[in-house]
Amino acid sequence: MQLSKPTTSLLPRIEKMLTGDRTIAVVGAQFGDEGKGKIVELLALWADIIVRFNGGNNAGHTIYVDNKPEVLHLLPCAIFQRGKICVVGQGVVVDLEVLKKELGLAKGRGSIIRIDRRAPVILPIYKQIDGLREAANSKKLGTTGRGIGPAYEAHASRYALRMGDLTSASRIREALNRGGNYYAQLCAAAKSLGGTPQTEDDLVKELLGYSRMVKNLLYDTVEIVRKALGTKKIMFEGAQAALLDVNQGTTPFVTSSSCTIAGIYSTFGQLPIDRVFGVAKAYVTRVGEGPFPSKIVGEMAHALREAGNEYGSTTKRPRDVGWMDLFALRYAVQMGGITDICLTKADVLNLWSQLQVCTKYMHGKNVAKEHRLMTAEYVKECTPVFEEVEGWHGANLTGIKLFGDLPPALQQYIRDIAAFLGVPVSMIGIGPCHDDIIFHG
Ligand code: GDP
Ligand code: IMO
Ligand code: MG
Repeated sequence: MQLSKPTTSLLPRIEKMLTGDRTIAVVGAQFGDEGKGKIVELLALWADIIVRFNGGNNAGHTIYVDNKPEVLHLLPCAIFQRGKICVVGQGVVVDLEVLKKELGLAKGRGSIIRIDRRAPVILPIYKQIDGLREAANSKKLGTTGRGIGPAYEAHASRYALRMGDLTSASRIREALNRGGNYYAQLCAAAKSLGGTPQTEDDLVKELLGYSRMVKNLLYDTVEIVRKALGTKKIMFEGAQAALLDVNQGTTPFVTSSSCTIAGIYSTFGQLPIDRVFGVAKAYVTRVGEGPFPSKIVGEMAHALREAGNEYGSTTKRPRDVGWMDLFALRYAVQMGGITDICLTKADVLNLWSQLQVCTKYMHGKNVAKEHRLMTAEYVKECTPVFEEVEGWHGANLTGIKLFGDLPPALQQYIRDIAAFLGVPVSMIGIGPCHDDIIFHG
């Protein structure tokens, strides 16, 4: 298999799809890991500025560099493309160790990296607290253990140490003592869970060690984006997904940030977003805990997990797998203002001649209320209703370039999805390689 960087030969087709567009977003439309990285890297050929707007290194976005897969956790999936301005917005929580690693990857590739001064830093103690809470919790959330929840708590409490605080020891100390004695409060929390936190002096030393690294990267990224509106082509890269959104996902089994375009507006202000690409697999996967109505188990689940290599890009945990859930996807489309679907991994779902598609949930005798899908309790009380559709069993999609050359059953699957959701399926992923993409419409 030839795995390549996105070739510029695809640019004219992308430009055709994005005619007239200036600002677009790529977001997850299911439970994460839909293939956003690949789509972002591809559409970055078109964009001048690529902006990660939410989450932290709980994300794992796979792209291909020098024919090898690379998983990026923090920086936008365009850092290997010369001349691209890669922005990390103020809504992103930053792990400095991960930042260092990814800056190393980007070095010499000619991209321009800008990080918002206000972005909260993930302190080492946040990772400790995240892990200890999970260990102490009889109802685990299944977090990635990257300290994401505590970092966003710090942001919401207004005590977060921000990237701009890293520039001097006095600023670091001041930040660590917000709210009276913020760091001591954190230490008490960690200790109450059985942890042994780092002393404040050691932490200050560790953080200061990054000040040189970040000094020339810090910007007001809102200014960068707003100045570029209408003149430059901007793409926002979402992490996680609609159903993991802190407000709209299946609470409490969600992440701690706004994963939809609401996360863009809340940090960059109101701006015109011409297209919102919701990335969805042809089936569904979920890693961590939480309800998953269309989940499949047993032999079939095993076969699908192996065919799709469904193991977490960040934590390597096996992902649960399930049938396409159009009921949940329509909720994601409606709540997240998704204008187009990118359907990935159509090649993987060639395992059976008959497929199931979930079209609604029943809650008792009634059809479930879509707007109530945001609590895990409600979803757990629901029963999924499936319809059987024809599969494209055994079909080899390698090399196909045109929608009309796809197996008729897959074409029908895509048409049915678009009709159900009321938005077009504009891109179809038929393999991990960037050329394995079909533009539709
Ligand atoms: P993200 O978090 O949404 O960026 O997705 P991940 O990178 O965590 O997981 C998606 C996985 O699917 C990666 O290994 C991709 O290389 C792979 N992938 C993306 N699109 C396709 C596709 O259309 N077909 C196949 N077979 N693999 C794909
Ligand atoms: P990308 O961007 C899949 C899940 C975790 C857990 C929940 C909360 O690669 O799609 P957190 O560590 O955020 O507090 O964990 O959210 N989760 C993801 N699942 N893909 C992701 O990111 C995820 N980021 C977080 O598994 O269930
Ligand atoms: Mg991922």
